Amino acid sequence: MKQGEITPGLSAAEYEVRRTMLMKSLPKSSVVISTSHKTRYMTNNIFYPFHQQTDFYYLCGFNEPDSALVLEKDDSPRGYKMTMFVAPKSANIEMWEGARTGADGAKEIFGADEAIDANLFRYRIVDMASRHENVYFDYPTPSLFMPMDIAKKLHNKPGSADAFSTTRGLSPLIQEMRVVKSEAEIKIMRQAGEISGKAFIETMQFTNPSRLEHQIYAKFDYECRMRGSQMMAYVPVVAGGSNALTMHYVNNDQPLHDGELILMDAGGELNAYASDITRTWPVNGKFTQAQKDLYEVVLHANKECIKLCTEEHGLSLNQIHDESMRLTKEGLQRLGITPLPHDMDRRLYPHHVGHYLGMDVHDTGDISRSRPLKTGMVITIEPGLYIPRDGAYPEEYQGIGIRIEDNVVIGKTVPYVLSVTAPKEIVDVEYCCASGRE
Ligand code: GLY
Ligand code: MN
Ligand code: MN
Repeated sequence: MKQGEITPGLSAAEYEVRRTMLMKSLPKSSVVISTSHKTRYMTNNIFYPFHQQTDFYYLCGFNEPDSALVLEKDDSPRGYKMTMFVAPKSANIEMWEGARTGADGAKEIFGADEAIDANLFRYRIVDMASRHENVYFDYPTPSLFMPMDIAKKLHNKPGSADAFSTTRGLSPLIQEMRVVKSEAEIKIMRQAGEISGKAFIETMQFTNPSRLEHQIYAKFDYECRMRGSQMMAYVPVVAGGSNALTMHYVNNDQPLHDGELILMDAGGELNAYASDITRTWPVNGKFTQAQKDLYEVVLHANKECIKLCTEEHGLSLNQIHDESMRLTKEGLQRLGITPLPHDMDRRLYPHHVGHYLGMDVHDTGDISRSRPLKTGMVITIEPGLYIPRDGAYPEEYQGIGIRIEDNVVIGKTVPYVLSVTAPKEIVDVEYCCASGRE
C-alpha cells in the first residue's frame, strides 16, 4: 500500500469523503449503524474464505469479521463522531486466527474517534441509538454482525429508518453513492479487468479436448491469483458444450469434447472490486461454421450495445437490454432461425443484458435498471444465445450456448471497456487458442 492508503488504491481521505457525504445528507440527530460480516463456517471450526460486507467496507475499509461502525451526526468540525466496535487484541486468539487491528489500530489507522471491544456491541448500541432521533441500519441477514433481537429493539424506536423494508434502510443511501465510481475505484477496476483479461488469454491457450472443466477453472484461478487477485469474484461457470445452456452451471466437473465450445463466466476480485467476464471459445481452437454464425450474432449485439454505454445516449440498462434483444432476434432471422413464440426470452436469451458492477458482482442491486446511465457508472454488457435441443431449431445449432460479457465504464461520449484484454473477435480467439498448441 502507498502512504495515506487505508486499502490498496484507496486513501484515508477518500473514505473520509464517503462518510462525510453520507452524514451531510442526513437530518440533524442521525446515527448510522453499519455492521461487518461474521465469520461463516463450512463445517465444525472450519471457516469459509472471509468476504467483507461491502457497504461496511465502503464506509471504512476495515476487513475483519465481527465488527461494527457507528457514525453519529454532531456539531464537531468533522460533522460526526466515528465509533468502531472491533475484536480486542489477544495474544492467544491471534496465535490461532492471525493479527487483529485492535482498538488502538482502529483509531490510528482507520480514523475512529472511539474504539470499543466488539463483544460490547449488543450491550451498548441500543443506548447509543437512543441518543438520536433518526437511526439508519439494515435488515440483519444471518451473515451480518447485527443480532436480530437488537435489530428489533432499534426498529421499534420511533424515528428508525424502516430497515425491515428494503427501500428505507441504510443500504439504499450507500448504494446511491456506490453506483457512480470515483477515479480511484475505476483504476482498481481497470486493474481487475486487466488481470482477468490476461488470465482469459492464458486459459484459452491452455484449453484442449483432453482437459476437464475444473482444470480450466483451476488454470483461470491460478492466472488471476498470480497477477495479484485475491480470490474469484464469484463461483465461475465453466461449461463445455451444452452445459452452457444451464445459466448457473457451476458443477464444472465434466470433460471437454473436441468440436464443442466452452463458455467460461469468471472474474478475479482485486482489492474488493469485482470483474465479471464471459468468453466462449472452441475446445479444439477452431470454430465450426455453425458456431461462427451464432457467435457473430452475439458479438455484434455485444459491440452495438457497448457503443450505447454513454451518458450522451441517456439510455438505461433496460433500454439497452431491449436493443440487445432486437439485435439477437434480427441476427437469428438472418440465419434462418425463427424462435418459437415466447422462446426468445424464455430459452434462447433468458437473462438481462447486464447489471451494475463494483464491489459486488451484482452491485447496487436496489438501484433500478431503468435509470439513465451516468458517467462513472460501471456495468456489464453480456448478451447471449442458447439454442435448445429441440427439433424446432436447425440441428447444427442445437446445444450451442454463447455469451460474451464485458465490463464497461459509462463515459460522457465514449464508453471505456475494462475487459478489453480478453480476446473476443473470432480471429483473435482462434489465434490465441492456436498459440497454445504450437
Ligand atoms: N457472473 C454473473 C453474471 O454474469 O451476472
Ligand atoms: Mn458473468
Ligand atoms: Mn454479469
